[in-house]
Amino acid sequence: MAEQRFCKAKVGGSTPLSGFMNSSDIRKKFLDFFKTKDHSIIPSASLVPSETDPTVLFTTAGMQPLVPYLLGADHPGGRRVANVQKCVRTVDIEEVGDPRHLTFFEMMGNWSFGDPNSHDGIGSGYFKKEAIEWSWEFLTDKKWLGLDKSRLAVSVFAGDDDAPFDEEAFNAWRKLGVAENRIARLPKKNNWWGPAGVTGPCGPDTEIFYWTGEPNETPESFNDDNDLWVEIWNNVFMQYNKGLDGKYYPLAQKNVDTGMGLERMAMVMQEKDNVYETDLFVPILEKLKAQSLPTACLSGRQRQAGSKLKTTAKNLKLEEKERAERIIADHIKASVLIIGDEVAPSNVGRGYILRRLIRRAVRYGRVLGIEGLFLSEIALPVFEIYKEFYPEFLQKKDMILGVIQEEETKFNKTLEKGLREFKKIVSRAGEEMISGKDAFILFSTFGFPVEITLEMAKEQGIKVNKTEFDKEFEDHQKISRTAAAGMFKGGLADAEEKTVKYHTATHLLHQALKLVLGESVAQKGSNINSERLRFDFSYPEKVTKEQIEKVEGLVNERIKENLPVSWTEMDLEEARKSGAIGLFGHKYEDKVKVYTIGEADKFFSKEICMGPHVPSTGQLGRFKIVKEEAVSAGIRRIKAILE
Ligand code: ALA
Repeated sequence: MAEQRFCKAKVGGSTPLSGFMNSSDIRKKFLDFFKTKDHSIIPSASLVPSETDPTVLFTTAGMQPLVPYLLGADHPGGRRVANVQKCVRTVDIEEVGDPRHLTFFEMMGNWSFGDPNSHDGIGSGYFKKEAIEWSWEFLTDKKWLGLDKSRLAVSVFAGDDDAPFDEEAFNAWRKLGVAENRIARLPKKNNWWGPAGVTGPCGPDTEIFYWTGEPNETPESFNDDNDLWVEIWNNVFMQYNKGLDGKYYPLAQKNVDTGMGLERMAMVMQEKDNVYETDLFVPILEKLKAQSLPTACLSGRQRQAGSKLKTTAKNLKLEEKERAERIIADHIKASVLIIGDEVAPSNVGRGYILRRLIRRAVRYGRVLGIEGLFLSEIALPVFEIYKEFYPEFLQKKDMILGVIQEEETKFNKTLEKGLREFKKIVSRAGEEMISGKDAFILFSTFGFPVEITLEMAKEQGIKVNKTEFDKEFEDHQKISRTAAAGMFKGGLADAEEKTVKYHTATHLLHQALKLVLGESVAQKGSNINSERLRFDFSYPEKVTKEQIEKVEGLVNERIKENLPVSWTEMDLEEARKSGAIGLFGHKYEDKVKVYTIGEADKFFSKEICMGPHVPSTGQLGRFKIVKEEAVSAGIRRIKAILE
């Protein structure tokens, strides 16, 4: 494991920092620094990306809520802004527990929305030169973080057929005294960020790395393969616009978009070799350790609780115990923050991710030999850690703890039986895979999210027939939808049903807008509830009454045709090639779901989306646009209902 190769990070080299820098100090310093560079400090947006990006379940980067401004809309704070943004990434969930990967993290960022003014009147405005100089100043000046320059390295874009070598960034680093062999030239795979959608702003980036090994062993050159070089900051220069033809065109507005992970920076500043030993985690882990008895003290019953798996509480190795503790700490923290942004556990979308996080934490609690309800107790320090910077969480404390306890209680009721059932299933499967049907029983009767079944199966060295599970799941959805439509009119199930319909209607609307107003229409936001859909898109003028009627007509025709809705999973590049529209996720996501409306060879819409959707458009009813208005320069908003 990379962790074993980690050495304590000594900060400051020959000029050590005076005292411990806690995470609040780091946030404050970052924001204060950018205030001195005339940035407006803006609050963190919600973890729920309602306004900007409906294809990503959570806000995954600081730039995500700012996309409209990177595309030219006027930000009320002006052309320079900075903030600390709450982020959730679930693609890294398997890595949680290693020294650096987390589900919830905070990203410090500074932006230039094409600011034409340079700070010293030299150069091309606030672009590469300023961003690089300020990064260096913030990281190395003793007044700010005071990191040892000899332990820093950077990478710049090497150049390819689409865009040249980033000489401007390279020269800016050289001018600051960074040695040539500490400036790696790397390809697009490493040093290019975006676009966030199929088309849109993107560009080369320059990444900054800190040597976390022994200071006297800092290598002469930067080497991308060595884990001891930890990426601490990414500066993206959004100077290109990717067109529909796949080509990169120079952008009129040259933006800066940066991201620095608070947890990693805390790890560096607090001289720790992993994020869990920083002040952002220690109080949670201490509370947890107080609950999980040392393995030697476990009672027979406690051992039995965990003994359904190979990794029993009895014979847990130290690193397995540590990993389980870290996973619980990570998941409970993410759950508190997600619930705080008004998400409730459910079986779809964001709610399902939350459910998975809570249930996975409960399961690892059992692995540690913890019995009974424990999560809301472990959640308490999370409020302490964030109360100063996100005071709103404290106000929601009772609600958040209540949601956690309810979900934990629900899972607790079936967990023991489910673990016993799992054991039976494993012995029945023998050398074979666990069938999709069995995985579905664990899901529907015992409340095991399929990802937990997959994980437990992996621990036992056995596979699960996931395709069969997906089929079972889809069939079940169809049955329960029909039941819901008939039985629970007006109730919660009905609301969920309506939301699903609005999701599908949004895809039809998106494609119809492209057909009527032109291909340049790009989705800028979407918000759905059980009453209506709201869709924001780029278009420079008012949409006429005739155009609205045409769009409505197109959508209603497709509904009448009762087109099938299907999905497949593919990687991002494949999705792009297949002609799928929608905001493409970020480079962190490898697989995406592509929903097709219509037959595969004659489709009306193909769009990247998490779903869920209705199985065929005939279920949608009549589509009606009730409002069309401007949101900001070049962005229009449509509200529509299904009658
Ligand atoms: N948007 C860039 C990132 O997330 C800064 O890394």
